[in-house]
Amino acid sequence: MDEGSASVDYLPASLQGAHFAMERPPIFAWKGCPVCRGIAARINVEYSYGHPGIFVNPSHEAIKRARAEGYSANMLAAVSAEDCLFADLGIDPSVEGCQTFEATDFLVYKRQFDTTSSLIIWQIGCVGDLTFNPHPSDPSGINVLVDYLLQHYSPSQPAILYQANVLPICKPIIRNLTLAEVREADINQITTLYIHPVPRRAVDKEHLSKLGLLEEALA
Ligand SMILES: C[S@@+](CC[C@H](N)C(=O)[O-])C[C@H]1O[C@@H](n2cnc3c(N)ncnc32)[C@H](O)[C@@H]1O
Repeated sequence: MDEGSASVDYLPASLQGAHFAMERPPIFAWKGCPVCRGIAARINVEYSYGHPGIFVNPSHEAIKRARAEGYSANMLAAVSAEDCLFADLGIDPSVEGCQTFEATDFLVYKRQFDTTSSLIIWQIGCVGDLTFNPHPSDPSGINVLVDYLLQHYSPSQPAILYQANVLPICKPIIRNLTLAEVREADINQITTLYIHPVPRRAVDKEHLSKLGLLEEALA
């Protein structure tokens, strides 16, 4: 099986003609879903859009349902947009940690996060849109997102609007701007927001001592 594919070895009965209950049914409906079409055809499916299980519900759902019926189903890892981001922006998440959220989930559940670690927000091109409209025209979602972020960061906080190259001949699009400028920026369905960590937090002396470490030894 090719890298980055999700497959099952047989079409489980419950999947025939099924319509997955997704947050975004129009695009991930049974007949429109490439993973499911492959399952129906009993072939291994190459899911070529990044990692098949990252921010992709149908692949998880297909595998879960197939396994529930006793069929063999596996997902193979592939390179996600976040992997490309680490490479293109030169970020190593081991240095200051990294938090990753889906934009609407981030707001709806008012996710708590640490500004001294990197913050990655996916799907900022469709904040608050549960129907997956490929051409959203309502910018109010991005304003809600920026408003929430500005409760934690200053308006001048450096941020990046990132687009990994989608074709081998293209270069990634990396737009450096301030958090306040994100409101007015041109954002599309494959834009991911990266926010740099604010300066490092102080070490925790209790944990340092419990680990037998000296502060000077830290990089
Ligand atoms: C439905 S998710 C698919 C993610 C994909 N499975 C992956 O592993 O990268 C779509 C979101 O992924 C991110 N994304 C997709 N393509 C991207 C790209 N070329 N550059 C940056 N982010 C991208 C964006 O946040 C976008 O809203």
